[in-house]
Amino acid sequence: MMESMNAIEVDDLTKQFDDFTAVNHLDFEVKNGEIFGFLGPNGAGKTTTVRMLTGIIKPDFGQVSIMGLDIRRDPIRAKQLIGVVPELSNAYTELTAWNNLQFIAELYGVPKKDARQRAEKLLGKFDLYERKDHKVRTFSKGMKQKLILAMSLMNDPEIIFLDEPTSGLDVMSARLIKDMLLELNKEGKTIFLTTHYMEEVNQLCSRVAIINHGKIAAIDAPEKLKMKVGGLKWVEISFNTSVDISDFHTMSGVIDVRMSADKLRLYTNEPGRTVYQLVDYSRSNDLEIVTLNTLTPTFEDVFIKLIGEVK
Ligand SMILES: Nc1ncnc2c1ncn2[C@@H]1O[C@H](COP(=O)(O)OP(=O)(O)O)[C@@H](O)[C@H]1O
Ligand SMILES: [Mg+2]
Repeated sequence: MMESMNAIEVDDLTKQFDDFTAVNHLDFEVKNGEIFGFLGPNGAGKTTTVRMLTGIIKPDFGQVSIMGLDIRRDPIRAKQLIGVVPELSNAYTELTAWNNLQFIAELYGVPKKDARQRAEKLLGKFDLYERKDHKVRTFSKGMKQKLILAMSLMNDPEIIFLDEPTSGLDVMSARLIKDMLLELNKEGKTIFLTTHYMEEVNQLCSRVAIINHGKIAAIDAPEKLKMKVGGLKWVEISFNTSVDISDFHTMSGVIDVRMSADKLRLYTNEPGRTVYQLVDYSRSNDLEIVTLNTLTPTFEDVFIKLIGEVK
């Protein structure tokens, strides 16, 4: 297999439910070895997309290729290359952790000896070994999610799909899952991660697709997306007395001026020069600056701006 091959290629992918288009002509690719984020609000079409990418449901249009294999034409071989952590738990709560792992291995046709070795290794790695003979029903949410991740690794996949894997977990458990994903990625696994947490994408992903209403609003590295909406920088200032807002529109770099509470917010391309002019202004008008902050866009700003554009 070529090193440079894309792990996932998606071409014109579309899914309709009656006359509602849940996934609307998506085109994108995921490179081999990356952690790719698929970020969008509830109902954006993330789960529907993952289910098409992993061959669980059929698209109405379009193609999906997994390591060069068409998921429709070559489903068995393609599915051997992927592991899936679905949105809803696929662990049997009345079975033990061990039996869940063996069951999934059987589904994938993993030889018994390999399955035992892998299960032991994964249970150790996820700190679940001591609970291996306990029913999953007795597990905490975090333990359960670790087990489901372990289950997705039983066929030693090249690509792991995770549909909101940290949703509803406490901070520590979410952290553990994220650390695990980074480690798996270091071992060479490609990761496709859907989430509605912006910070998660910021922390983990080399690239992110922002999706809303079944369409992609943007795809890029999180930092590059922040730069693209660089116009959202602002300077916030308050003085000891009220000022005339119209004095600020003409300052260099200033795009817009808003009042929020007792503060003036100046949207600017050049925060440095704007601050300089504000200091000048306070001197020449004999005003005292009470607060002064400059803010660069957060990933949240990027997200809100971009999903606002896809209606
Ligand atoms: N089986 C289905 N039948 C009808 N509508 C569905 C079905 N599955 C999903 N949808 C709709 O498709 C849209 C996208 O859903 P989904 O892919 O689950 O979004 P997300 O995972 O981003 O929250 C939603 O409006 C949802 O109600
Ligand atoms: Mg979903």
